Amino acid sequence: MTDLIQTVTDGFTSRFDASPAGLWSAPGRVNLIGEHTDYNDGFVFPFAINRRTLVGLRLRGDRLLRVASSFATETVELSLDELTPENLAGWSAYPLGVAWALGEFGADLAVVPGFDVFIDSDVPIGAGLSSSAAIESAVAVALNDLWDLGLDRRVLARVGQLAENRAVGAPTGIMDQSASLLGEADSAVFLDCRTLEAEVIPLGFDAAGLELLIIDTRVSHAHSTGGYASRRASCELGARMLGVTSLRDLTVDDLGPASDVLDDETFRRVRHVVTENQRVQDTVRTLREQGPTAIGALLDASHLSMRDDFEISVPELDLAVETARGAGSIGARMTGGGFGGAAIALTPSDLIPAVTAAVTAAFAARGFAVPDLFVVRAADGAARQQ
Ligand code: GLA
Repeated sequence: MTDLIQTVTDGFTSRFDASPAGLWSAPGRVNLIGEHTDYNDGFVFPFAINRRTLVGLRLRGDRLLRVASSFATETVELSLDELTPENLAGWSAYPLGVAWALGEFGADLAVVPGFDVFIDSDVPIGAGLSSSAAIESAVAVALNDLWDLGLDRRVLARVGQLAENRAVGAPTGIMDQSASLLGEADSAVFLDCRTLEAEVIPLGFDAAGLELLIIDTRVSHAHSTGGYASRRASCELGARMLGVTSLRDLTVDDLGPASDVLDDETFRRVRHVVTENQRVQDTVRTLREQGPTAIGALLDASHLSMRDDFEISVPELDLAVETARGAGSIGARMTGGGFGGAAIALTPSDLIPAVTAAVTAAFAARGFAVPDLFVVRAADGAARQQ
């Protein structure tokens, strides 16, 4: 964090010739379990991680918005009077999309002042760790403070999601922003995506001698194109055909009858979501009753469901999961939207070097790109830093 504070403070001063009024940060997230359940009104169990985005922001005396970051040489400028999703493109659509989306949730964009913002982040981009939600959440808490909006964190999560849906054009759910805004150290957020009721549940990894290893396959993915949207459409079709508002309304017992109504592909998409919702609830119960060493099989089952029923894995993710399990991880699965990004492997601390070596060697043997492996810890959600 010290490094980010330095780069944001320096970057802000050199781009805008002034000091920021404050610094706000928000973390990326990893999803322990509950994939593609959020936009089906289901359950998710993610946690905020110790990789963060930091923004420096100050209000201006006029209506101009200026956005700069350490990952782009350009400074993007736009007037608040021209702030529409259609006018946004590229990386600045994340912060500016949040400013626009705040207007949809009560900020009076006709009167608020413009701002200068500088952004830096150590959340790896494209790894499935929600670098985008980290930007959205950091900007959302900063503007919520300086524009004095008084919006609740659950509302700010919806603001970030709306920015992602409309300004970035990715039809994603509410999980990533919720984790980034509601996360707490050493705990995961059990979120009901229908009611947005959230329960923070201690993970107990330290006491059990476990660590969560991220295996970033370096296969890049984008949820504004292709597979993510088509999976979402299949889920909506399945719900319509089965006469329910969303797949959340089905239980595992409904799957038998559903197989008579749906075509094979739609049925398998539905089966993933319904069983995954059950696995999230089972994971939370198992964690509470038996501790984290007992949740491995649920993580494994989640991966198989995504590989075979939802069909969102890629060979690199499958290899990462299989190799980690073979080398001693107690459970492993791809995490995030799929089609690339990262896998997670719940691993006894003393086996981290062995699992890392095994995965690296397996990728080399298959001629895959060199994966990036690192341990993450559950961290606090978005906060004002200074
Ligand atoms: C992406 C989306 C989330 C969620 C996951 C899949 O991370 O941003 O809303 O749908 O994929 O669980």
